[in-house]
Amino acid sequence: MSGSLAGVRIVNGKPIRSGHRLLTDWLLDATIYFSFDSSGFRRHQRSAPQDFKVRDNAHVLVTGANSGVGFALCEQLMRRNVQVTLLCRSLTRGDAAIERLIKSFPSAPKPRLLLADITDLQAIDDAIDVLRDDVKSDHLPPISCLIHNAGILPLTQSFTSTGHELAVAAHLIGPMRLTHALFDCMAEGGRIIFMSSGGMYFAPLSVKKMLAYNVETQDSYDGVLAYALTKRAQVELAKCLHERYRSSGVSVDVQSIHPGWADTPGVESSLSAFHQKMSGRLRTSTEGALPTEWLCHTPPLTESHFWFDWVPRSPYLLGKRPPQSEIDALWNMVSEGAKLPHDWVSSS
Ligand SMILES: NC(=O)c1ccc[n+]([C@@H]2O[C@H](COP(=O)([O-])OP(=O)(O)OC[C@H]3O[C@@H](n4cnc5c(N)ncnc54)[C@H](OP(=O)(O)O)[C@@H]3O)[C@@H](O)[C@H]2O)c1
Repeated sequence: MSGSLAGVRIVNGKPIRSGHRLLTDWLLDATIYFSFDSSGFRRHQRSAPQDFKVRDNAHVLVTGANSGVGFALCEQLMRRNVQVTLLCRSLTRGDAAIERLIKSFPSAPKPRLLLADITDLQAIDDAIDVLRDDVKSDHLPPISCLIHNAGILPLTQSFTSTGHELAVAAHLIGPMRLTHALFDCMAEGGRIIFMSSGGMYFAPLSVKKMLAYNVETQDSYDGVLAYALTKRAQVELAKCLHERYRSSGVSVDVQSIHPGWADTPGVESSLSAFHQKMSGRLRTSTEGALPTEWLCHTPPLTESHFWFDWVPRSPYLLGKRPPQSEIDALWNMVSEGAKLPHDWVSSS
């Protein structure tokens, strides 16, 4: 760790800042632009942990792993010989990703491919049934880290077969179902990470607005807002799930993270004007992935944090966490969408 700059170490389950933060860092971070972009990455990287210990028997499951940040994350994990499982919705794109990974890291444990669209509850259960057999028969270690990375910024309003708007289904309902399905495959002291987005800073939690998206409103549908609302909800869901695990004695912790603005196929296709305007200033996919790779391996955390570039940040621009009633409404909306009883954590 760089001598004088502020970095974070995990001590007794708490992230502890050491060193000092320069005034210029405060100012540049406040611009957002020079924080989320590639210059922000390089500046923050100076105080990042230089090296870290990979968890023993690490096995990381990454959703949306065939492209962008998810694929880059698998590369970084395999570079350190970690067992990875990729959850992808397309056999062709999933196979191509596996092939590239094996070619690049021939001596790493063979990556595993699971096929499921993250909005398809039955497909998720079926995929995890296959994985469970391998974990229970000791062919694969239990999951040390589950990364809910699959994401989309819908250009138009569309619905799943269960009638849920796509962003709500892909960012909240599917991940909840996957979390539940994987419950008995998680390692002691394991971790779940939601790949959220800094875009959520401008969208306070609103269950009402997310529920309204389930009704056809083509003309007034705003995909960027649907994305931001569901990314905000991921941060709150992570905290809520973490607390429910704690109070039920489950040792898994739940975190959320923002990868910064990275140049990925998703950004290029969904935010083409932004992608063009930011040409040369976006992070690479690998830069977007590196802090998450580190977070996969840090010791268990007692609280749920929102991370950005190796440091926990407040997820709120102003004010505090939403009222408990709104968080409960989120939990109920997501549980019902995922067809799970509201008390599934305590009754599992
Ligand atoms: N890049 C950024 O600047 C940025 C900033 C903030 C947050 N993020 C977050 O980072 C994550 C990765 O984004 P990215 O930029 O790397 O995007 P990307 O290149 O578009 O990758 C997204 C991945 O998610 C998969 N996916 C989408 N819908 C899916 C579904 N229904 N079922 C299964 N997989 C699905 C995609 O699979 P297909 O290839 O089959 O479509 C793809 O593998 C997202 O959660 C995004 O919100 C990214």
